[in-house]
Amino acid sequence: MARIRLADRLAAARAERVAKAALRTRREIQAREGAKVLVDGRQLVSFCGNDYLGLSQHLDVVSALQEAAAWHGVGSTGSAGVSGHHSEHAAFEREMAQWLGYERGLLFGSGYQANLAVLQSLLEEGDVCVQDKLNHACLIDGARLSGCELKRYPHADVEAAMRQLMSRRDGAALLATDGVFSMDGDQAPLADLALVARAQDATLYVDDAHGIGVLGPEGRGSLAVAGLTSREVPLLLVPLGKAFGGQGAVLLGSAALVSHVAETARPYLFSTAPAPAMAAAMRASLRLIRTQPWRRAKLASLVARFRRGASARGLPLQESFTPIQPIVLGDNTRALAASKSLETQGYLVSAIRPPTVPEGQARLRVTLSCDHSEADVDGLLNALAEAVKSRPDPVTA
Ligand SMILES: Cc1ncc(COP(=O)(O)O)c(C=O)c1O
Repeated sequence: MARIRLADRLAAARAERVAKAALRTRREIQAREGAKVLVDGRQLVSFCGNDYLGLSQHLDVVSALQEAAAWHGVGSTGSAGVSGHHSEHAAFEREMAQWLGYERGLLFGSGYQANLAVLQSLLEEGDVCVQDKLNHACLIDGARLSGCELKRYPHADVEAAMRQLMSRRDGAALLATDGVFSMDGDQAPLADLALVARAQDATLYVDDAHGIGVLGPEGRGSLAVAGLTSREVPLLLVPLGKAFGGQGAVLLGSAALVSHVAETARPYLFSTAPAPAMAAAMRASLRLIRTQPWRRAKLASLVARFRRGASARGLPLQESFTPIQPIVLGDNTRALAASKSLETQGYLVSAIRPPTVPEGQARLRVTLSCDHSEADVDGLLNALAEAVKSRPDPVTA
């Protein structure tokens, strides 16, 4: 068989993405103040970031980062096992574990890296990992990296999860789910999944990227809402790029589970530890999350206002009561056209297309933040009513 030229294959794949309106481009943010962003020299109100509580530019958080960088430098100088583990990291891990009621925390440079690490190190060939079909890509990729059997149940279908676990009784079993689904905003049926995990001797692992900080008392997230603790959910991941307003992720679990990951996970062992200054900033975010409940209250009221306004205007809402409010439009060209129309009207809401969402479910993923005002939300609603009517433009589509 003749060797395929890589360049030819890439060119064909790109042509296919162009034909399917699936090209991905990056928008350059030239400046940002809260939800206001400067893009191509124009000020837009962004409704597609994940800074739910508006902490990424909070003075306390920024000052903590600056001060720690001044003392400790920018880089951590090495992987955590060699020279990169700093007392800022250790203090933050302890504070997170104590806050959420776990024995031990472990800080990673990103949520994606953490999920690769957790699943790769805990699971192996002969094990089974059962996951919701709409779980974030890094949970799926982590299971693939581990060599275990990956089974994916239809979204939020607890009985299907049970059947998939029952069909495989040998090897270890891990049941993994997002707490709040990143592209849909709905909440996983955690209490029922906990019962299934217990009945099937499976370890329940929850990635609460979009629930932490936003839901529950003190912002303790999806587990607190469902009345669950470390007993029912032995492993919890808290990514820091959303409500915490920073970067990284903290794994929480028993000393035995977390130590195993810290000592054996390749994506952890062979990667430079995050900046100590980021850990210091995240300690400041944690203090604000715990002590400023008004941020959650304001966010909840903006979510309710958005939903009321959207249904009054006949916009297609999903069953989501979190700051993630998708408007599902179907095909890629329609989502792109609506996003473009919003931009013309002064709003940045990117079009989310496959493979981030299933085929035929392209959407505008609207996200709300404490940084928005009621007037911002009302303005977006009016613009959305106009945008969803817009027809695809044959040039950009
Ligand atoms: C549920 C979930 N887990 C993990 C991640 C990845 O985290 P990070 O962006 O820190 O890599 C994301 C999104 O980015 C997410 O939505």
